[in-house]
Amino acid sequence: MDSISLINRAEQQHHLQEEEIQYLLEDNSSSKLLFAAADRVRKKYVGDAIHLRALIEFTNICANSCFYCGLRCQNCAITRYRLTEEQIYSLAQKAASWGYKTVVLQGGEDAFFTVERLVPLLRRIKELDLAITLSIGERPRADYQAFKEAGADRYLLRIETTDKALYQKYHPGMSFENRLRCLQDLKELGYETGTGVLVGLPGQTFRSLAQDILFFKRFRPDMIGLGPFIPNPHTPLKDAPAPQLLPALKVMAITRLLLPDINIPATTAMEALTPQGRLKALQSGANVIMPNITEGQARENYALYPGKSAAAPAPQNLCQELEQKLHTIGRHIGTGYGGHKHSEFSF
Ligand code: 5AD
Repeated sequence: MDSISLINRAEQQHHLQEEEIQYLLEDNSSSKLLFAAADRVRKKYVGDAIHLRALIEFTNICANSCFYCGLRCQNCAITRYRLTEEQIYSLAQKAASWGYKTVVLQGGEDAFFTVERLVPLLRRIKELDLAITLSIGERPRADYQAFKEAGADRYLLRIETTDKALYQKYHPGMSFENRLRCLQDLKELGYETGTGVLVGLPGQTFRSLAQDILFFKRFRPDMIGLGPFIPNPHTPLKDAPAPQLLPALKVMAITRLLLPDINIPATTAMEALTPQGRLKALQSGANVIMPNITEGQARENYALYPGKSAAAPAPQNLCQELEQKLHTIGRHIGTGYGGHKHSEFSF
C-alpha cells in the first residue's frame, strides 16, 4: 500500500477499504497531498461558495454527563443559563438582518424546551425566511416530527464515536442504539441530517476512526461535522493528552474524498486549537462555517471546551472580516440557503 495511490484512487472513485483508510490516517508523510485532493474534490462537487450558519447557543443546561463535555450536568464550574424565547427570536432576527440564510439552534438536552415551547418559536423564526437547523440532542421521534412540521429543516446529532464500547464508556446512562435510532428517525422524517465524531478521544484508534468514516459512507448524511477533542479541565477527561489538529483535518479530508457532495463545516474546535485552523480546514475539504452569534455571558458560559468562546470574532464585524479572509483563499460567501445538493452520481 502507498498513500499516494490511495489518495488518487479515493479522489477518482470515492471508495476505500477500512485498512486503506487506516493506512492513510497513520501515514503523515502525504498529508499535504491528501488535503490538496480533498480541496479539489470540494471544488468539483460543491464549488467555491462557503455557506454560513448563524449559531445560537440557547441553553447550556444538559441532562447528560458526557465525559468530554463542559456542559455535563455534574460540572458546577459554569453558570447555567437558558435564553428566553424572545431572546432567541431576536437573535434570529439579527441573523436574518445580517444576511444569514440559516440559523442553528443548539443547546444541551434541556427538558424545559418542550415541543409546546419550541414549536411556536420555530414557526415564528420560519417567517424570517431562514433555514432552521436544530442541534438539541436525543428526543422521541414524535418531537422530531413536530419540529419538522413547524419548519425545522436540518438536524445535527453527532454519533461522537462509532466504537460502541468507547461510546458507552464516555456517555453514562445513554445508549448507542438510541443514538442510531435518533439519526435514522431524523433521516426518515426528511431532515437534512448531520452527524460527525470527535477525533482524539482517549482510547480511540485509527482503526476506529476508519470505521467512523465508513459509517458516514453507509449512513449517507447530508452534513458531517468533526473536530479535535479538546480536554476540558472540568471533566473526567481533563488529563487527556494535548489535542492535535492534524488527525482531525485528515479524517475530514478523507470524509470529503469519500462523500464528495456533502456539506462539511470548518468547526470551531479546529479554530480554537490553532490560529487559522478554520482556513486550513476550508482548504482541506470544508465548505461551511458556523459563526457564533450568541451574545454576552451566554457565549462565555457555553463552555464545551477551553478556548471556544474566544475562537470566533464578535458577531457585528463578522461578515466583512470573514468575507475578506475568504477572498484571500479564492472563496466567497454563498448567497442561498446552502442545503445539500445531491450530485447526479451515486457513491
Ligand atoms: N472538545 C471538542 N469538542 C467537543 N464537543 C463537546 N465537548 C467537546 C470537547 N471537549 C463537541 C461534541 C458535540 C458538539 C456540540 O461539541 O462533539 O457534539
